Amino acid sequence: MSNDQGLLEKVVSLCKRRGFVYPGSEIYGGLSNSWDFGPVGAELKKNIKDIWWKTYVHQRDDVLGLDSTLIMNPKVWEASGHIAGFSDPLIECRACHNRWRSDQVDVDQPCPQCHKKDWSDVRNFNMMFKTFVGAVEDDLTTVYLRPETAQGQFVDFKNILSSSPRKLPLGIAQIGKVFRNEITTGNFLFRLRELEQMEIEYFIPVPKNDLEWQQHFEHWRQEMWKWFDLVGIDSQKVHEHEIPDGERAHYSKRTIDFEFDYPFGTKELYGLAYRTDYDLKRHQKFSGQDLTYTDPETGEKFIPHVIEPTWGVDRTFLSILLSAYVEEGDRTVLKLRPQLAPYKVAVFPLVRNKPDLVQKARDLYLSLKPLLPVVWDDRGNIGKRYYSQDEIGTPWCVTVDYQTLEDSTVTVRDRDTTQQERVSIERLSSFFTTHIAQSYGSQA
Ligand code: GAP
Repeated sequence: MSNDQGLLEKVVSLCKRRGFVYPGSEIYGGLSNSWDFGPVGAELKKNIKDIWWKTYVHQRDDVLGLDSTLIMNPKVWEASGHIAGFSDPLIECRACHNRWRSDQVDVDQPCPQCHKKDWSDVRNFNMMFKTFVGAVEDDLTTVYLRPETAQGQFVDFKNILSSSPRKLPLGIAQIGKVFRNEITTGNFLFRLRELEQMEIEYFIPVPKNDLEWQQHFEHWRQEMWKWFDLVGIDSQKVHEHEIPDGERAHYSKRTIDFEFDYPFGTKELYGLAYRTDYDLKRHQKFSGQDLTYTDPETGEKFIPHVIEPTWGVDRTFLSILLSAYVEEGDRTVLKLRPQLAPYKVAVFPLVRNKPDLVQKARDLYLSLKPLLPVVWDDRGNIGKRYYSQDEIGTPWCVTVDYQTLEDSTVTVRDRDTTQQERVSIERLSSFFTTHIAQSYGSQA
């Protein structure tokens, strides 16, 4: 566990103060486990997803993208095993009707909520959210909000292969919202009911021996370690946890959880699983469709096996903030990787009451805007502006001053070193794009 027990509170407070994350529906008293991403939070979240897509879809030849529906035919969830097995064992206090995960209360003790001792038996509680399609609400119209993106990749496997023929191994990647009616709440973005996942289902030929699937598993394990550096998650705080037999999900022959040292304990960040041919076989059986793949060279037909690396967007967001948050003297800095920072550059006029300075700064700001996410700030004094940009992780602040009017140079202040250098306006856009490209390249 981290020594800094207050770190989570500090990050939550910064998130609200600066517009990263707010409690959801706050003016109505909120809704448990729901959080809204504010202006800079939405940018950071989008940058995380864009870097993921760029890294695993655009920069590879063996992965294609997908965007499937959140509400699917309910048979999908019968086939996947979620209707039968996606549940938590719960126990209810008969006095106050609060429900708890049965592994998280001591039934020899009174209810932590009402302090009476009247426990029900343990019952399984399905975590999928139900809703209805059409006007009638009955069993025939019941549908579920998807609890993982992965089933889209399996259900569309046949369409993807026929529309975009590829040889195995082939990954199908998807980013999207999923819903889980989680009972345990708290810990900010760690356990949400509405969350986002970035998942790859990596289809491989039927392994002739363990080595054949293990080498793909190993490849994705290494990729996940590279990802931590790419996005600035402190890899010293990441640990692999091999999930033992009997504790893995019903579809998995091997699972590694990547755990992170959050201030509230060491807990899951991401997962990597060998799902075998479980899902495609089940969908073939339940849909009655042929989901085999035909090898274009040998003509052999078979159901592919699957390695699944999975990343939660919200836990990524949280672990990046926890890794980037630094207090240095009297300033608080988010040392975000430049490619993740909500704004790459802030532009200031030295003072706001000199029209020619303001005009020059404004022209510069507007000229940078089509090239980079850039923000304007003319509030307070320069020191305050630096502090507020440091807190949202803006890598560079540009000040237009009196010298600018004479020689068209500006000061560029570096967030991490606080060093300033003079750069000509002409060179500015290449200065930033080169620095950002270098920081992406050096991590990739
Ligand atoms: N398709 C496999 C799958 O869904 P999972 O371990 O249940 O596996 C994958 O979820 C990832 O989604 C987790 O590693 C975590 O990053 C994220 N995740 C799962 N439940 C979450 C929750 N309630 N709140 C926030 N993130 C969650």
